[in-house]
Amino acid sequence: MACNFLRTVASVLLFILVTFSEARELLVGGKSNAWKIPSSQSDSLNHWAENSRFLIGDSLVWEYDETKDSVLQVTKRDYVTCNTSTPIETYNNSGNNTTKVKLERSGPYYFISGEEGHCEKGQKLIVVVMSTKHHLHRRPSFSPAPSPAELEGPSIAPAPSSGVGCLRGGGFLGVGLGALLLVVL
Ligand SMILES: *[C@@H]1O[C@H](CO)[C@@H](O)[C@H](O)[C@H]1NC(C)=O
Ligand SMILES: *[C@@H]1O[C@H](CO)[C@@H](O)[C@H](O)[C@H]1NC(C)=O
Ligand SMILES: *[C@@H]1O[C@H](CO)[C@@H](O)[C@H](O)[C@H]1NC(C)=O
Ligand SMILES: *[C@@H]1O[C@H](CO)[C@@H](O)[C@H](O)[C@H]1NC(C)=O
Repeated sequence: MACNFLRTVASVLLFILVTFSEARELLVGGKSNAWKIPSSQSDSLNHWAENSRFLIGDSLVWEYDETKDSVLQVTKRDYVTCNTSTPIETYNNSGNNTTKVKLERSGPYYFISGEEGHCEKGQKLIVVVMSTKHHLHRRPSFSPAPSPAELEGPSIAPAPSSGVGCLRGGGFLGVGLGALLLVVL
């Protein structure tokens, strides 16, 4: 009885958690006007990206003066060579100094500045979007401390029917609650 209740609560929390993470918007660089030539290695956007997690459904948001710059999504090759001539996508049209890109698939996304010479000076960004499976079983080496949100994936285990299952449900609840708190705070 209490066991069922726990499991229900855990499922609801998990649902909220997943909903939450799907609506995430990540400000590139963690602040406005971060889309610029980095002043140092530690200031670079890839340094920021290596310390962030990107999941399918997240959106990247750039805030910058769009009369002075733009965001190009390019192939890996064009990223490496800073070739701005044939971007996959050009973003410079929102009219309010923000560019928003929804991450629809797992894998790498490559972005460079559309301004002449900026990419060469380090204004570029690789974002690697983790698949659910991926981030469950294997954390990329560049990832910092384990984050509770990484536990959100566990495709809800088949409803356990034994006493042991109840314990599992309880653990689930703990994890869900902990993760939820962290997401909210
Ligand atoms: C972005 O758009 C604005 C207004 O349309 C334009 O003035 C500016 O040159 C564009 N910037 C780039 C880098 O394309
Ligand atoms: C940039 O890419 C285009 C299209 O792939 C290619 O024609 C051009 O030669 C490239 N430019 C440089 C400098 O590599
Ligand atoms: C965009 O940013 C520039 C420079 O910060 C500012 O002058 C301009 O008013 C902004 N435009 C909008 C629509 O917010
Ligand atoms: C900028 O415009 C986009 C698209 O219209 C919108 O989604 C976003 O909330 C706006 N951002 C700001 C800061 O006004």
